[in-house]
Amino acid sequence: MARPLVVRPGPPLAGTLRPPGDKSVTHRAYILGMLAGGETVVRHPNDGEDCRATLRCVEALGADAAASGVVVRLRGAAGRLARPVGELDCGNSGTTLRLLAGVLAGQPFPATLTGDDSLRRRPMDRVVEALRAMGAAVSGRDGGRLPPLEIRGGPLRGTCFERVTPSAQVASAILLAGVQARGTTCVWTAPGARDHTARLLPRFGVAVESSRDRGRTRFAVAGPAKLAACEVVVPGDFSATACHLAAAAATPGARVEFVGVGLNPGRVVLLSVLRAMGARIDVRGVTELAGEPVGDLIVSGADRLRPVDIDPADVPALQDEVPAWTVAASAAPGISRLRGAAELRVKESDRLHALAEGLGVLGVRVDETPDGLDIQGGGAHGGTVRAYGDHRIAMAFAVLGTRASGPVTVDDAGCISTSYPAFVDDLRSLGGLVEEPPIAGGAGV
Ligand code: S3P
Repeated sequence: MARPLVVRPGPPLAGTLRPPGDKSVTHRAYILGMLAGGETVVRHPNDGEDCRATLRCVEALGADAAASGVVVRLRGAAGRLARPVGELDCGNSGTTLRLLAGVLAGQPFPATLTGDDSLRRRPMDRVVEALRAMGAAVSGRDGGRLPPLEIRGGPLRGTCFERVTPSAQVASAILLAGVQARGTTCVWTAPGARDHTARLLPRFGVAVESSRDRGRTRFAVAGPAKLAACEVVVPGDFSATACHLAAAAATPGARVEFVGVGLNPGRVVLLSVLRAMGARIDVRGVTELAGEPVGDLIVSGADRLRPVDIDPADVPALQDEVPAWTVAASAAPGISRLRGAAELRVKESDRLHALAEGLGVLGVRVDETPDGLDIQGGGAHGGTVRAYGDHRIAMAFAVLGTRASGPVTVDDAGCISTSYPAFVDDLRSLGGLVEEPPIAGGAGV
């Protein structure tokens, strides 16, 4: 049943926010904890539906999990996973499906990975081709391009992939297969790509060699490797802060402090983009958690934002934040341009289309190109927009409502719980005027 959300224009956002745990790091902590021997303790994990799907899958594969408050304890299966009963349901989560494909490629039993309608439409060919090259038998709809994927794993050959892998999820799947393979496995990642798996594996006792060439990074692991349990304190999720951050940056008088935010270099291009547009963002108290840089962000709204052209080379480290960026772009008088972002068409929704449509409904002129958007900024009015079941689209339009000239209604915001169940509470705590109208025929919210 649809759960609409209405956000009314209100005062500039102000206050302090501690974001939810990082979704990408939480998935990896659960998966590596499952492969390890002993008890892994995951503190402050992301509690959204995507990470819950990963936790259910790792339990189905033989790990024992116990959650209490903001801590999940996981007794791993020491590399010998259990054959699951039935299909492994990854829900809406591409990260769950692609990373588990890499794990299952090295296990001596067949298993099937599936998900919801959106996930079953997302392309899997890059991960399937790589795992087949390492020795796994993988089948799926359309020759292995679409889930459900059936993986018949077994002994894997360490393999070096010389072509750059544009996807962090595919690179992670290769490394997860690599720790189970015989010999060395290596993978090149694109400049600016996130590298959470390579940062977390050493915490579990697995050495990852890295070298760089023209901005690209090559990661290598030697297998088979034994993983040892550890404690993972999950940093705050930069992508979850992105919408509040962009709305604050775009609103004169706004001031928001975000505490304990993960600052992986493959995630934070939005900061330099917003600074180039005129926002003031200070970074303080940088330390390290789970191998990741973490710090506090203090964002002050600009009196008037400038439009910006996004460098296509920056897109890998901006991709999940593009919906948030459009909130700032729609406030900057002039044309802001995004190119090199065709990948956004195969995320949880076709994000370029969803953004162009919704911004258009709110009176922002947008030209949609095959791989980007031209956004004519200057302000948005109220209206009802479609989220297409995509959490990042729903959150971006919700925060746009704080600075539009009339109320913005998101047709169905239930999808936000995929990554950020406390989103509405957090937006209210910063002064956002949010209503969750009762669901017609339901018990209300
Ligand atoms: C993710 C990688 C990114 C990102 C996704 C999470 C990850 O996708 O968009 O939300 O955790 O590895 P790519 O695989 O396209 O890089």
